[in-house]
Amino acid sequence: MSEKPLSTQSAHSDGSAKRAVTQEQMTAWIEQLVSRRRVLAGATTLGLAGLAGLVLGGREGDEGTTGPAGPAGPPGSAPPEFNFKVVSLNTHDKVTLPEGHSAHVLYAYGDPISPELDDYSNMGTEPGLEWDQRAGDHHDGMHFFGLNENGELDPNASNRGILCINHENITQSLMHESAEVSRDANGVRNSVDEVRKEQRAHGVSCTEIVRDEATGQFTVVKDSPYNRRITALTPVELHGPAAGSSWLQTKHSPDGLNGRGTLNNCAHGYTPWGTYLTCEENYDLYFRDERTVADETKEVPAEIGHANYLAGIGVRVAGGLYEWATLAGHADENDDEFSRFNVTPMPGRSATDDYRNEGNQFGYVVEIDPLEPQAAPRKRTALGRFAHEGVWPAKAVDGHPVVFYMGDDDQMQFIYKFVSAATYRAGSAGMPLDTGNAYMDDGTLYVACFDADDLTGRQTGAWIPLRPDNPGLEAASGDAQSPFYGLFGSEASILIHTRAAAFVVGATPMDRPEWGAVNPMNGEIYFTLTNNSDRRGFEAAGPLARAAGDQGSRDEVTEFLADREFGEVPANPRGPNRDGHVIRLRENGNDPAALGFAWDIFVFGSAADGDSNFSGLTADNEFGSCDGLWFDAAGLLWIQTDGSQPGGNHDQMLAAVPGEVGDGGIDAGNNDVSLRRFLVGPIRCEVTGIDMTPDRRSMFVNIQHPRGHWPEGSDATMAGATGRARSATIVITRNDGGPIGTDGMDG
Ligand code: FEO
Ligand code: CA
Ligand code: CA
Ligand code: CA
Repeated sequence: MSEKPLSTQSAHSDGSAKRAVTQEQMTAWIEQLVSRRRVLAGATTLGLAGLAGLVLGGREGDEGTTGPAGPAGPPGSAPPEFNFKVVSLNTHDKVTLPEGHSAHVLYAYGDPISPELDDYSNMGTEPGLEWDQRAGDHHDGMHFFGLNENGELDPNASNRGILCINHENITQSLMHESAEVSRDANGVRNSVDEVRKEQRAHGVSCTEIVRDEATGQFTVVKDSPYNRRITALTPVELHGPAAGSSWLQTKHSPDGLNGRGTLNNCAHGYTPWGTYLTCEENYDLYFRDERTVADETKEVPAEIGHANYLAGIGVRVAGGLYEWATLAGHADENDDEFSRFNVTPMPGRSATDDYRNEGNQFGYVVEIDPLEPQAAPRKRTALGRFAHEGVWPAKAVDGHPVVFYMGDDDQMQFIYKFVSAATYRAGSAGMPLDTGNAYMDDGTLYVACFDADDLTGRQTGAWIPLRPDNPGLEAASGDAQSPFYGLFGSEASILIHTRAAAFVVGATPMDRPEWGAVNPMNGEIYFTLTNNSDRRGFEAAGPLARAAGDQGSRDEVTEFLADREFGEVPANPRGPNRDGHVIRLRENGNDPAALGFAWDIFVFGSAADGDSNFSGLTADNEFGSCDGLWFDAAGLLWIQTDGSQPGGNHDQMLAAVPGEVGDGGIDAGNNDVSLRRFLVGPIRCEVTGIDMTPDRRSMFVNIQHPRGHWPEGSDATMAGATGRARSATIVITRNDGGPIGTDGMDG
């Protein structure tokens, strides 16, 4: 590493967050930011970077060596041009695509991945245990692993592959025979089968798929040995610094090295060594704590509240979402399958006699080998424990560390990166999951501080290491009066309490970081910040203040935070932020392991007639609540939404031409050619999850939790269906078989 590690001493010597900025300053700042594009309008692509440098008064942080990502953008290359016509917003119960495009359903909730099972009835009548071999619900992040004719992973293979798909959550009212779950006379859940189905409808699917050369359509290979469901019960291993710590010991795993299942698998990632990464987001919803049930004003009880409260992760629903733990002790219960969701410390017992720590076994990045269906997934604790939205690798370069970018999707939470201790060597021999041990179990977790050194458009930021030797963490952990006393003494404890550590070092609270994406052309990193209903109500509504029942700790933390300002900041300038924005970063020297970066805002979500339409959006590209984000191989950036859209229309997907940090992003002067709507989803769905075959002829998109009747039959654009709605993966093709999004730069 060429730079001296930056501690909190230099960036934020008092451990405080960013300075407060007045609304007037912020308005002026936004005006300056977006007007830069107007200044640049008319500049050629070749001249853009130089002109941006002039306007910015020099490109902060670019003096360093050119790192492994190389120079920002191929010089002289023309930006990609869209090859489709804009799709209008609408409220149809179907998938709307540009003319000349079609979509088919590949894999919908309940579909079997074994020839032993019948097709799904869509009546909710199949036994719950069948979901060990049926599609889970709420399809989310996914990745296509191409296979060549020898059955080897091949990044250029487009006709055959393994599609790994996350199943984030369930729609309970559509999965059982009745819309209401079964309950006894006291209102307590009493169907073991229903709970077993719900647990198994979570997790991940890995399915082999093949493309018919004649029709261009993909189908699932039902008898493939690679087909696999990973559920809330699948045996998993815990790896990295927190593995084996007292925080992770349970009755099931007295050594804290093993666990069961993965939950709330939102977005995803992949590794350079051919494995899939699935991320555990809102896992804290699933657990029951008797002490909070007795008093619903308590969200985290005092006894364990201190650590969980400070981590911002306690039990968030008093009885546990879906009430799985209420079947604990049922005559048919096997291996504590329900009891493990009750995290109440049992009187007279220790952590290895009950499941008080079961919740600590979730909130991780989980590595899966798509070619080894028997191998237990490995939870990578070195990448921290928080509401992991997803994990995105920087381009791996021999001789440099492996770097992953991550977001914590909650109000006022943070953006992180992990930098491996080992340097990368392509083609490592041995099992891919053991390669994962080498690069993902030892390294440094950093959290992002977004600064604005002045209000003249010079935006910089710093990556702050979360290690026991960080002076800010040492001070907080060593001070007996601090609410964080003793919390940051070891790497394991910092990783279990990632959120608390990030707050202490003064990381920038963000407007709900969702997906990230790394531009393959220049290494710049994009993140969606989906929305934030209240940046100022942090103390009342924020994660650190969720321990209403633990007044002592709350007061301590409130006092600790007294000198902080949690209003708007340059990187999150709208409060409330109704429609979200996309922020982007360029690492100093284009080195993913750098300790500092430049940043700007790429686009602000808004209705065309919104009162903060800073990017000049029109009917062709207005949007709200950006969430999914992905670069294709041609360099187009795809943006998916999850939330209210302008005019009460349905969620959507757009394509964008990225440009680069400092060019002013999207605004009225360019958005007809740089941001265009490609797809509108069916009723009340979320459009999330996207990948393409390397030849860009087949695009995979997930339609999550539709609530009308979509889909029915095999035509994803079908309207007028009558059955129960199902989450599904669709495959989009061009009717002429051409590449999707843009014709050029295909390589
Ligand atoms: Fe599961 Fe943050 O979206
Ligand atoms: Ca969702
Ligand atoms: Ca999401
Ligand atoms: Ca979302």
